[in-house]
Amino acid sequence: MTTVIRRAAEWSKVAAWIRREDVVGLVPTMGALHEGHGALFDEARRHCSVVVASIFVNPIQFDQASDYDIYPRVLADDVAFCTARGIDYVFAPPNDEMYPEPQRVFVEIGELSEHLCGRTRPGHFRGVGTVVLKLFHLLQPHLAFFGEKDYQQLAIVRRIVRELNVPLRVVGVPTIRESDGLAMSSRNRRLSAAERLLAPRLYQALQTARQLIARGERNVVAIKGRAVQALRTTPEIRLEYFEMIDPESIQPVDLVNAPVRVAIAAWIGKTRLIDNLLCEPPALAHVFAKRQTKTVGPVSSWM
Ligand code: PAF
Repeated sequence: MTTVIRRAAEWSKVAAWIRREDVVGLVPTMGALHEGHGALFDEARRHCSVVVASIFVNPIQFDQASDYDIYPRVLADDVAFCTARGIDYVFAPPNDEMYPEPQRVFVEIGELSEHLCGRTRPGHFRGVGTVVLKLFHLLQPHLAFFGEKDYQQLAIVRRIVRELNVPLRVVGVPTIRESDGLAMSSRNRRLSAAERLLAPRLYQALQTARQLIARGERNVVAIKGRAVQALRTTPEIRLEYFEMIDPESIQPVDLVNAPVRVAIAAWIGKTRLIDNLLCEPPALAHVFAKRQTKTVGPVSSWM
């Protein structure tokens, strides 16, 4: 059974029972759980003796009040999902537990949040960084698990942990996809049946980029032009960005001469979807494969 905790003080009582040898893993979520979260839970379960999922729809990361209002809140279903996945604790605080007074101190993210999703969602990553740091302080996990689907978020959280000396390890977990390639997301449930049929085109664009890069194309303009061709002829899809970025600094690259993350954001109707894919140029394929076998331990934290 999963124990639901609403207040930080309740967690402190639980924490007092945690043994020195226990490894506490945290999976921060906003609920509306799906198989993508399931993969994070499974990874956490593999590495941790105590697993906590936080469920909190964080008001300070929404740039549009309407988006916050319609965000699905289905706690009973989420707790059942957590129980089925063997999660020990759900931390589901009310707003006044996380923000007992108006928040005046924030994590300033800087250039990591100035492009990609940060460009069109002002204050979003500041809100994410702030709530994640608060959760880390409240729950004090040893490991924290984040999905690679939100790649900019993952990179920013890694940087917060590194630069603000937070004593935990961030684990990135690969994206889980539907059988047609669509990355799993709580937002997918907002798509109409017709929009849902179009949604895998984002992943197809990423795959086109991956193929071109694997064949040796290095010019980002040429790669982007070819990859987004099909999207440009689909009026229902409005492309927001299609970028090739350095996996660590997440800054856009001019030339693909090392592994890159290709990242996309697009609107289908009223729903904004994001996705990304690791792409590697041919000369590096063997080096890359070696690096993966060598450095990915049971808990992989490299990007
Ligand atoms: O990815 C999410 O669901 C949220 O941004 C997070 C990390 C739980 C912070 O509110």
